[in-house]
Amino acid sequence: MARVLTLAILTTVMLCGVLVGFQSGPPSYMTGAPGNADCTICHFSFALNSGAGLGLALFDVAGPDTTLDMGGPVPAPIVVSFPMTTRPIHGFEMTARDGADAPFVPSFAGAWDPSTFGSDAQLAFGDPEYVSHTLSGSQQTSWTVGWTPDAVPPAGPMTIYAAGNAANGNAAPTGDYIFTATHTVYQARVSVSQAIWPIGSSQPIILEAPTVPGHGYILVASNDITPVSLGGPFLVPLNPFSPLASLTLDPAFSSIFQNFQGTLDGSGNATAQTNIPPLPSLSGMVAHLAFATLDPQTPTVTEISNRVTVTLQ
Ligand code: HEC
Repeated sequence: MARVLTLAILTTVMLCGVLVGFQSGPPSYMTGAPGNADCTICHFSFALNSGAGLGLALFDVAGPDTTLDMGGPVPAPIVVSFPMTTRPIHGFEMTARDGADAPFVPSFAGAWDPSTFGSDAQLAFGDPEYVSHTLSGSQQTSWTVGWTPDAVPPAGPMTIYAAGNAANGNAAPTGDYIFTATHTVYQARVSVSQAIWPIGSSQPIILEAPTVPGHGYILVASNDITPVSLGGPFLVPLNPFSPLASLTLDPAFSSIFQNFQGTLDGSGNATAQTNIPPLPSLSGMVAHLAFATLDPQTPTVTEISNRVTVTLQ
């Protein structure tokens, strides 16, 4: 499979590199997603993402944090952009993958909506799984296109992989800075009513995981956002083994961290609570929250949530 893909890329390079102007859009399979190449195979003057450290440009892809934020399987706006740039010409390509994705066995997530492309975005070489800029779109630094997740995606978060080119406008693949970025869309949501938590107050934490009703859950507060893999597609967006995370799971502190472990109800919902001790020394402390769900039978991880951040004050 890898060899077939390499051949396909080489053929594309040989046929299209000569015949087609790429400022009008790159070939598919160039997003940096698992099994993809990225634009540096042709735009090879500088190392991937090196333009950020040099202060030449920043690249980003943004969208809803969870499927619950979309209010159903409707087209959600995905925004790929250079929030800062010193370069004259720009381009991008992106693709979406779900929790069943693997290198060279892509599992594409949802569908791009061509009715939202306007004249600035297109399917990359007609491939429905890849969106890129058009020639007129290369005059822009931000592109917004609609994406609809599948009604019932495989378990695990979905990831949008994007590559971008902050180009020098010389109508050649030389002298251009290539970037990659990702955005994760979770199927479970943790939320709080306010991001500032006064010392001595009690704060509810809402857990929603509608795809896994009745499953167990473990919520942690962590002071470390290093992602940790819990196996398969379940990359939890914080470190659940940090010193603070250990405290949240310690029964000795269960009066502070209430219902941080439990069982989701028949709709996949639960509410936990933090009772913040009235200690002035806690002021300024930053905590990140995320949860994982567990199949009560096995018990294996069945879903993970987004991350929210709160500051004690
Ligand atoms: C197969 C080789 C190849 C790949 C892969 C490729 N490009 Fe290009 N690209 C070219 C060539 C050749 C040109 C010059 C011809 C032109 O401008 O149309 C070019 C030009 C461009 C330009 C205009 C550059 C300038 O300075 O004028 C942009 C923008 C661009 N590409 C974006 C991308 C992006 C984004 C990707 C990755 C998603 C990508 N390209 C991947 C071959 C490629």
